[in-house]
Amino acid sequence: MYVCTCLPVYLSSVYPAKHMHLELKGIHKYFGPVHANDNVNLVVDSGTIHGLLGENGAGKSTLMKVLSGFIHRDAGEILLDGQAVEFKSPAAALRAGVGMLHQDPLDFPPLRVLDNFLLGLEDGFMQNRAQALADLRKYSAQFGFDIDPESLVSALTVGERQQLEIMRLLSRGAKILIFDEPTTGISLPQKVKLFETLRLLAQEGMTVIFVTHKLEDAEDLCGQVNVLRRGQVVGHVTRPFTPQQLVQLMFGQQLGTSTRETIALGDLALELRDLAVADYRLRVPNINLQARCGEVIGLAGIEGSGQRLFLRAVAGLDHPLAGEIWIGGAKMNRQPYRRFLDRGVAYMPAGRLEEGLVPGLNLAEHFILAKRSKEFFINWNFAEQQAHERIQQYSIRGAPGSRVESLSGGNQQRALLALLRPDLNLLLLEHPTRGLDIESTLWVWNQLLERRRRGTTIIFASADLDEIFEYSDRILVFSGGRVAKALNAKDTSVAQLGELIGGKGL
Ligand SMILES: Nc1ncnc2c1ncn2[C@@H]1O[C@H](COP(=O)(O)OP(=O)(O)OP(=O)(O)O)[C@@H](O)[C@H]1O
Ligand SMILES: [Mg+2]
Repeated sequence: MYVCTCLPVYLSSVYPAKHMHLELKGIHKYFGPVHANDNVNLVVDSGTIHGLLGENGAGKSTLMKVLSGFIHRDAGEILLDGQAVEFKSPAAALRAGVGMLHQDPLDFPPLRVLDNFLLGLEDGFMQNRAQALADLRKYSAQFGFDIDPESLVSALTVGERQQLEIMRLLSRGAKILIFDEPTTGISLPQKVKLFETLRLLAQEGMTVIFVTHKLEDAEDLCGQVNVLRRGQVVGHVTRPFTPQQLVQLMFGQQLGTSTRETIALGDLALELRDLAVADYRLRVPNINLQARCGEVIGLAGIEGSGQRLFLRAVAGLDHPLAGEIWIGGAKMNRQPYRRFLDRGVAYMPAGRLEEGLVPGLNLAEHFILAKRSKEFFINWNFAEQQAHERIQQYSIRGAPGSRVESLSGGNQQRALLALLRPDLNLLLLEHPTRGLDIESTLWVWNQLLERRRRGTTIIFASADLDEIFEYSDRILVFSGGRVAKALNAKDTSVAQLGELIGGKGL
């Protein structure tokens, strides 16, 4: 509530409110044969929160990158207050008042928070440091963000990195703020705070463009929504609108559901005895767990409460501080990562382009790398043919030669899944459906449930409680360096889970 009361005063003192009318006319953008934006027309009034909704690959990010100077359009006009503008770079767009918070953070992980905050400032890097530090502190206090200016960006969670970027854009005086899927990596309280902030920004006369495929976010926040499908605007709705209307517009149809049947669990697949995991800022001791083949365990908790440390230790990527990890009856402590792979363990990280995929390489090259082949020569024809098959099987919108960074978020996630071996014993996933639209989310879970049917134990972290409840047999709650005893999902209420996440009863 602190944010609510002081933000308008603060904002009006720092940025004189400026109303800016935005119009996009006949925007076209091609990527080779892909017509990512196909004659898009859009009018956005200042002082509103305008939703841009659409399935994965619909062209939302492309349109917003065109608007914010990150990529050049092939045709069409951008009008600010009726004036045609031409942005040669993101910096030019920002000078004109258009700032964008990207879906994949654009910060530089090796730098410190403060240096990131200073990035792009044109005059005098050094003399601005003190001022920037003061600004950063002020913003953090205003928004209730808790980021240490001296910490390395690589040590921040995705949510914190987004917060940093929000503060950086605001400090440059953006009047039109584009948020490309800002709620995907952040916790519920952070989201509530973000929404309050966005509403206040709109009240101040700024324009907020909110890109999402989450119906509930659009419903919660947006006064009006444009829906994109396959590069075209297929609908425009103003409040009041229903989620059904939006689904119909997004997919052109109503959707099915995923089928989670009850299955008999198999043998013991994983046992953790007094496991302790840690990094330099968090220590999570005394984790005990027995998981069976075919069991699904959801990790709940505010992001950064140790879920990631846990998943990485169990995957063999980091050594635990103490305790024992047993997989398929073998003690795995101090074993090299290779042994974990041999045991059929796989880990899917949340940072798709940072950890999961290799930017610069195409899909066919990824499939070759993932094969762990001992052959010396690469059979490119065979690789290409295999890539074709996987692309079909996993409905990836792309070609064997498509570089992974050119795929939309949903398609990158499909590619990650396609790279996993078919015969896994233990699959560890961090936010498996983060950033995915409903159709892709259902698709991903159907894939995971199919693996479960074949006996794979699945452990996944998610910030989405509905997802945790819907798919978990049992739930492990992480809170403030502690882990609660695993709960049966069936016997747990949302309220109970909420209390545990908040640290009550642990
Ligand atoms: N740099 C690029 N090179 C080649 N193709 C691209 C590039 N960027 C986007 N595309 C293609 O353009 C289409 C639209 O992608 P875009 O990222 O705009 O979708 P989106 O609506 O933001 O999807 P998501 O919800 O998954 O983020 C996709 O088919 C994508 O593969
Ligand atoms: Mg996108």
